[in-house]
Order: sequence, then C-alpha cells, then structure tokens
Amino acid sequence: MSDAVLPIPASPEADILSALGARSIVLVGMMGVGKSTVGRRLALRLKLPFVDADTEIETAAGMTIPEIFEQHGEPHFRDGEARVIARLLDGGPVVLATGGGAFMREETRTRIAARAISIWLKADHDVIMRRVRRRADRPLLQTADPEGTMTRLLAEREPTYAKADLTIASREVPHDKIVDECVEALHAHLCGAPAAAQPPADVASA
Ligand code: S3P
Repeated sequence: MSDAVLPIPASPEADILSALGARSIVLVGMMGVGKSTVGRRLALRLKLPFVDADTEIETAAGMTIPEIFEQHGEPHFRDGEARVIARLLDGGPVVLATGGGAFMREETRTRIAARAISIWLKADHDVIMRRVRRRADRPLLQTADPEGTMTRLLAEREPTYAKADLTIASREVPHDKIVDECVEALHAHLCGAPAAAQPPADVASA
C-alpha cells in the first residue's frame, strides 16, 4: 500500500495570493460602480485586508469628503488623496477601493502600476445614475444637471480608467458574481489561467 500524500489542489485564491507577493489589488472607476462593496467581498475571498481610500482620507483629515471640498477645495482633496493612496500602497498587500477621481492623477497611476494590479469596474451611465441617486453626498454631483455632469465625467475619465490592468463589467447582478469575475480575471492575469468571457458593460446592464 502506498503511503504517498496526495497533493492538495491549489485554489485560484491561493494562487493569486502567492503571485501577488507584496502587491495590492486596486479597484478604480466612477462613483457608484461598487468599488467598496466588491472590494470588501474580494478581500474576504482572498483573505487580504480591505481599505477604502475615501474613508482613510476622512480619518486622516478628521472631516468628511464634502467638508474637505467645501472648506479647502478640490485641489487640496486631490493632494491628500494621492498621499493617502501612496501610503496605503506602501503598506500592501491589501484590496484598495479608490475614489472615482484618484486614477486620473498620473503620479497615482504610476504608483499603482508599480505596486498593484488595477481593476476598472466599468458601468454604464444609467446604472451609475441609479446608484448615485441613493446618496446625496458626492460633491462633484452637486450641480444643476447631475446627469449631464456624469456624461461629461465619463467621457473625460473612461479613456484613463481603461489603462487599468483588468476591466470587469459592473452591472445589476449579485455582487458575488462580480467578485467571481474579478477572481477569474486576476487568476488569468497573474497565473495564466483562461479567463471566462466577459459580457460587455453596456449590454449586460440592460
Ligand atoms: C470622487 C469620487 C468619490 C470621492 C469624491 C470624488 C470623484 O469617491 O472620492 O467625492 O472624483 O469621482 P467614490 O468613487 O467612492 O464615490
């Protein structure tokens, strides 16, 4: 009788973790695409700490984001945001949800490219508007025409979000499905496993 020990099959999550090393996973994309919700669940799956850059900025400043915008202006917020993200990436590996404007700064994109794998959670205009309507605390949408503002922001930002390493369509399906797709895409990217076909963001949200 052989007493050879059968190898324990490695899980995609364990493979991802070992391939990541000290690098983090960074979720980027527009407000309302689910970066924090998906990020929290992805972190649980990978057994990594989850950090939300917006929350960290608020803690560091001792103020809410609307208060920072109101009292100090957007450029001040952006400088703080870049500093906080740099610090969080230095402390990796974590799953980091960034605020919607963070990836627009070149210095932050360069840091993320060096220290993390980035995932763009891509959703279409209507999905985003349905979600952001639930919360009135986003300073950039306090305009006379939030729909028009979102159209402009998407046009400005999507070419930059597309520079992320991976793109996942965020749409009206259970969050765990999006998390599964993130795990598959990370596994394919980091370990060469075949990724399942992705539905396009515009079709899948209908
Ligand atoms: C912003 C998005 C917000 C927050 C701030 C600015 C943006 O974060 O950082 O209101 O520029 O898109 P969420 O994307 O988490 O809503």
